[in-house]
Amino acid sequence: MSKQVGTTAVILAAGLGTRMKSSMGKVRHTVLGMPLVVHVVRAALESGAERVVVVVGHQAEEVEKEVRLWLPEAPLEFALQANPQGTGHAVLMAETQTEGSAKVLILNGDVPGIQASTLRDLEDSYNSNGGKLALATSTVAQPTGYGRMVRSGEGALTHIAEQKDATSTEKEIREINVGLYLCERSFLFEALHAAGTDNAQGEIYLTHVVPHAVSQGLAIGTVSVDEGPEMWGINNRVELARVEAALRRQVNERHMLAGVTLTDPDTVTIAPQVTIGPDTLIRGGCRLEGNTSIGEGCTVDEGAVIKNATLDADVHVKPYCVIEDAKVGSGTAVGPFAHLRPGTHLEANVKVGNFVETKKAHLKAGAKASHLSYLGDCEIGEESNIGAGTITCNYDGVNKFRTVLGKGVFIGSDTQLVAPVELGDGAFVGAGTTVTSNVPAGALAISRSDQKNIEGWVARKNARREKKKNESKR
Ligand code: UD1
Ligand code: CA
Repeated sequence: MSKQVGTTAVILAAGLGTRMKSSMGKVRHTVLGMPLVVHVVRAALESGAERVVVVVGHQAEEVEKEVRLWLPEAPLEFALQANPQGTGHAVLMAETQTEGSAKVLILNGDVPGIQASTLRDLEDSYNSNGGKLALATSTVAQPTGYGRMVRSGEGALTHIAEQKDATSTEKEIREINVGLYLCERSFLFEALHAAGTDNAQGEIYLTHVVPHAVSQGLAIGTVSVDEGPEMWGINNRVELARVEAALRRQVNERHMLAGVTLTDPDTVTIAPQVTIGPDTLIRGGCRLEGNTSIGEGCTVDEGAVIKNATLDADVHVKPYCVIEDAKVGSGTAVGPFAHLRPGTHLEANVKVGNFVETKKAHLKAGAKASHLSYLGDCEIGEESNIGAGTITCNYDGVNKFRTVLGKGVFIGSDTQLVAPVELGDGAFVGAGTTVTSNVPAGALAISRSDQKNIEGWVARKNARREKKKNESKR
């Protein structure tokens, strides 16, 4: 017995996408860092669909893996259309998986701009028109390629004429089929089982739902969508870039209206699921991706790439930082030119300066690493200070080891910390030291040869050089 649900969304994503000229299936290409099909699944879920069936064909396994990875919690199912024979055929492949639901919402997997609010409008139209069928249309300047909405003299929809089937009069029609439908489930499959393949492409057309409803005297709801990203399907990479630009603008405007300053919004790419607190300022050339959340009052300077990171309030990311799978506490400053790699956790009021790379590094409150360091597999206690050029030697070619520093430890410049190694609270390491064994709390560790000064050495060296020069001239 299938689960009883109100609406199952069926997303058509079996197509190859030849015109992308890609080894990767079309719906796996990304806009704003997220695969096309994932945008569509998210919109369907946001509009209230309780189950989503993605119809896959080309690169079925990869598409499934990718969608599950992006939306691990979502109520997802996948239906295979091994041999694509049209949009209606694709929906038939999902027939069993829609069992138990009253309504089926159908979307194209290559229209990432679709908004949940439009899907809700579609549902309103469905409900107020007899609860059998509603679909989205758009009136466009260039209808070529789309199915045309053919209406009777009284304005009632009679059928949809595909480009390849349309008469020359029908080709004049600029109202087109967006490819977005809400259908009563029993009506939908009755219509598709009755649909033939008697058309120019020899396919089972999903658009057959329209004449089927007409033949039964059923009302059809329509929702008009503006020409734009909500109805733009992607067929090639020019269209991909056009949709990316449109969605980037939408997301950026949403953030600006919610109190985020973007000094140069056309150059900032923010993935749709990223959250940003008010009074945060983001400068040009930044890219924020994955499950990133940025708190209030932060400043993110030019060229930052931030992925799957959590920044608390009042963080300052200085120019040209790369931050991935990291947590950054409030009041902390990072960069310029810092690289926070996965597993980095900076607590509050930490300072990580230029050319510092961190990986699985936990810097506790007030710790500082201001210049030129590699800190990997380590814990740095509160208020500790890491001098310029300090390196944790965490890898012996086979295994990784940890470095643990207590509170208020001072590491002089150009120090190597050869892990595994622990330094107690308040330990002090002289510049240029190679630390190979533990340092007790409060102790000084120093390992460098004593300095010797040779008086007059430079003058004697210059004199020797002069003499040689004069000899060679002769
Ligand atoms: C379809 C509509 C057309 C509408 C247009 C909107 C039909 C017959 N025509 O056109 O009226 O204007 O969408 O974009 O429905 N797909 C499958 N399996 C298939 C065929 C398609 O999964 O066998 C998927 C594609 O991957 C794509 C979506 O369905 O995501 C639409 O297919 P596409 O070929 O782009 O649409 P058309 O048939 O040209
Ligand atoms: Ca087609």
